[in-house]
Amino acid sequence: NTFQQVAMCKISSALVLLLMMVMSCMADTEERAQIVALKTILNNLVVKGKDITVQYDLYNVGSKAARNLQLEEEGFPSDYFELKAGLLRARWASLPAGANVSHSVVLTPLQSVMFNVSQATVRYRASEDSRGFTVGQTSGFGEVVIYDTAAYDRQFSAHATEWLTFGLMSLPSIAIPMALWYKSHRKYAALATRKLD
Ligand SMILES: *[C@@H]1O[C@H](CO)[C@@H](O)[C@H](O)[C@H]1NC(C)=O
Ligand SMILES: *[C@@H]1O[C@H](CO)[C@@H](O)[C@H](O)[C@H]1NC(C)=O
Repeated sequence: NTFQQVAMCKISSALVLLLMMVMSCMADTEERAQIVALKTILNNLVVKGKDITVQYDLYNVGSKAARNLQLEEEGFPSDYFELKAGLLRARWASLPAGANVSHSVVLTPLQSVMFNVSQATVRYRASEDSRGFTVGQTSGFGEVVIYDTAAYDRQFSAHATEWLTFGLMSLPSIAIPMALWYKSHRKYAALATRKLD
């Protein structure tokens, strides 16, 4: 199911980050910046017409500040997604070693399709004296199902019906003891009143 898939996806991106950090620590003897970037869809379900939030987390796992850090997202074409808030390009003058920054955008899916989410691009200067840019990619790519609203409502109301059924089924187990208690309570109350007389 989709919830599990999303959860798995989040766990695997955390593992990817960990692995990349370990690898960069082992490989890196040179003094330079190294950016690890995660891209995550924060919503459990992607539904046509309902806003989603995409978050980018950039970590500098290197030993030097990254200069001229740029994030560029081209994976949400405007015939599939409408940009509601945020920018698909972001820039930071510098990101110190060991620091991180986050960026997010809000998008509205316009079609209910299977959509291939691609990686965003990250560019930066790895040290002051490096002439060119180091280019990397974010994590967080793969197929995502964009549900249509009707399917979403069906699934939602199916759950609502389940809860209602559960409520009705558990009603006797609450109502019967309560009725019995009420009956006996009244009986004893009556007895007690009689004793007082
Ligand atoms: C990211 O940076 C913030 C401070 O800006 C810090 O509190 C947080 O622990 C950092 N996260 C990681 C995973 O290093
Ligand atoms: C998504 O990409 C994969 C690998 O490139 C491809 O096999 C698959 O058919 C694509 N799915 C869609 C819906 O475009």
